[in-house]
Amino acid sequence: MSYTREFPGWADQIRQARTWADRVMATHTGYAIPDDTAAAAVLCLSEAATNALRYTASGRGGVFKVTIKLDRRRVTIEVDDEGRPAGGTIPFVRPITPMAQHGRGMALIDHYTHTWGPLPRPRTGVTFTLTWQDTRARKTAPAPPAAP
Ligand SMILES: Nc1ncnc2c1ncn2[C@@H]1O[C@H](COP(=O)(O)OP(=O)(O)O)[C@@H](O)[C@H]1O
Ligand SMILES: [Mg+2]
Repeated sequence: MSYTREFPGWADQIRQARTWADRVMATHTGYAIPDDTAAAAVLCLSEAATNALRYTASGRGGVFKVTIKLDRRRVTIEVDDEGRPAGGTIPFVRPITPMAQHGRGMALIDHYTHTWGPLPRPRTGVTFTLTWQDTRARKTAPAPPAAP
């Protein structure tokens, strides 16, 4: 199942994107996304959208687009931005120093996700995937212990 929504490149739209992603994942309880996985996915989305606004034309009168792809054991989120001028950076993990005020967004994404990377050209932005064990089986009663 895939959902896409475009947001204007304004700071308050990051919250809108978070709320929307929360709702999309909550609606699909059929996929049994654990709450902590959904929360981590939303945190990563928030960092990726913040970067889209800060580092690309999305934040200067542009838009950013969020795609959420869900299946039984994984969610992939893509954040398309409007790119940087030629020679600009792509998303990368900055080495973290304890006192640094910046540079944690991609490190968080790296920590919470199974895989991540820049979107394949000609798209610009970031994609990441979180995975979980399929827990639906646990909802059925456990089999009684075998008689001795
Ligand atoms: N969407 C993006 N497009 C281009 N460069 C990006 C993008 N997202 C992140 N980057 C680059 O990756 C670096 C690390 O991002 P991040 O870990 O979020 O730290 P911070 O945003 O605090 O610099 C950024 O400083 C920027 O150079
Ligand atoms: Mg950042």
